[in-house]
Amino acid sequence: MRKKVDFLVIGSGIAGLCFALKASNYGKVCIVTKAKADDTSTRYAQGGVAAVMYHPDTYEKHIEDTMVAGDELSDRRIVEITIRESTERIMELVEWGVEFDKTKSGKFALAKEGGHSEFRVLHHKDITGLEIEEKLVAAAQKNPNIEIMDNHLAVEIITQHHLGIEVNRHTPDITCYGAYIYNPDNQQVCTILSKVTMMATGGIGQVYANTTNPTIATGDGIAMVYRAKGAVRGMEFVQFHPTSLYNPSERPSFLITEAMRGAGAILKDKDGNEFMHKYDERGSLAPRDIVARAIDNEMKISGCDHVYLDATQIPAHEIFNHFPNIYAKCLSIGIDITKEMIPVVPAAHYSCGGILVDEWGHSTIKNLYASGECSSTGLHGANRLASNSLLEALVFSHRSCLKAVEEIKHIDFCEEVPEWNTDGTVLNEEMVLITQSKKEVQTIMSSYVGIVRSNLRLQRAFDRLDILYRETEELYKRSILNPEICELRNMINVGYLIIRNAMARKESRGLHYSLDYPHHIDANQTTEDKL
Ligand code: FAD
Ligand code: SIN
Repeated sequence: MRKKVDFLVIGSGIAGLCFALKASNYGKVCIVTKAKADDTSTRYAQGGVAAVMYHPDTYEKHIEDTMVAGDELSDRRIVEITIRESTERIMELVEWGVEFDKTKSGKFALAKEGGHSEFRVLHHKDITGLEIEEKLVAAAQKNPNIEIMDNHLAVEIITQHHLGIEVNRHTPDITCYGAYIYNPDNQQVCTILSKVTMMATGGIGQVYANTTNPTIATGDGIAMVYRAKGAVRGMEFVQFHPTSLYNPSERPSFLITEAMRGAGAILKDKDGNEFMHKYDERGSLAPRDIVARAIDNEMKISGCDHVYLDATQIPAHEIFNHFPNIYAKCLSIGIDITKEMIPVVPAAHYSCGGILVDEWGHSTIKNLYASGECSSTGLHGANRLASNSLLEALVFSHRSCLKAVEEIKHIDFCEEVPEWNTDGTVLNEEMVLITQSKKEVQTIMSSYVGIVRSNLRLQRAFDRLDILYRETEELYKRSILNPEICELRNMINVGYLIIRNAMARKESRGLHYSLDYPHHIDANQTTEDKL
């Protein structure tokens, strides 16, 4: 099958849907998404969206909080753009039907999370992401200019490489002509030609054994762009959320929102002693990198595989009102959080790095934009401030659309693109080769490339991953395509990028902590992988 669309959007989370809804005013949009339309990280967001809404908050305060969290690596210009456009983007979400909680006086009820100096997190109870995802999917589904192809997996973006022209990382004007898409109904790969492509494939959490991210988060967009020789940067900055529910049989891990600490919950050890003040004067509400590392250290000292979050001092009515989902979840495994402490453990949560984009969301590949968690705008630097990621997706999907509708007038479809080549492939009957390798990737990354790293651990991870890389590439070349092997390849590519970027950063900064280099060096060091 061959198809032509003005805008091809890969991914149906907040980033893809916002872009699609806006672009639909200027042409035909096709959203390709590899699972059900609402199976996204967006759906699981709990805490909310950070934005400046009322006095005494100001854009300047939010900008400074973001800069401090980013540990000198955030791009101030991008931070200013994002924060100054926050109020407008929130009001647009409200126009699309998203309901945020309000106070009795009718103003938005704002929560506080780690690293924020003011109450500024808009939320819908503790299911903010679900509210946003449902409203945006509904709007896209009834839009006559948007087609949603769910359960379709993007395999590769199409560039000159597919026309037989060699490209490398120094080739100027690598151009995206669309993408090859796997259709599960006939197990064929179709060719979608587009004038503009938006990469909105979300995060990478699944490369770790313990993550809050849903199974779709295998870093596909980042891997596809990297293979197409686009620039990717900052992959060493993987954010571990300090408080996922300790429930070893559950995968992905259930999140206990930081907003709960904002409401007064306190981290404690098994004996009920508060420990965060040993590490940071902001206590349980210090930025995530500090809290996650402190918990990691406490667990190592005590030998326990979790610590506790004590929410019993939050009035029960506030728990029922603001955190009903968390209350119900914990109760379902026998913990009444109004009376008992919650066992929690850090889990891989968010990728601060990704596809390098400019202030218009444009990648280093022509006609290819990226937004949301798969992108690296420069907002987060070495560590993301809580609840800034939904905001980033809103702002950069909007800006990408502004730019793309200008550019599209000068872009033609590339008719010479060939169909997907299946020569020499056979059915892979040994799925165990793929499932086992996937578990190995997750074990390697969690064991050696987690919260605390060292030269030895990174080298070991690199060597182990290299074996898996070679085995998987071999299998991929001779197998009839299937989604599992595509995802495994992507996970290995992403693991490789995280390790290489971590090896290149000879210092500790933000989310990257190395036992061999415990201090900061030059803040202008870049980790864009040129290999
Ligand atoms: P996603 O919402 O993850 O969407 C990615 C889409 O891409 C999916 O539709 C997926 O199927 C599709 N896709 C992926 N690969 C392919 C492929 N190869 N082919 C086709 N489709 C593909 N951030 C906040 O700001 N506030 C919060 O309160 C908050 N809470 C969070 C709680 C949890 C549990 C988690 C996991 C994250 C949270 N985050 C929060 C982070 C935030 O939710 C995500 O960063 C954000 O939702 C990412 O949006 P996205 O559109 O970039 O990606
Ligand atoms: C949370 O609710 O703690 C998650 C917020 C975020 O990841 O930004």
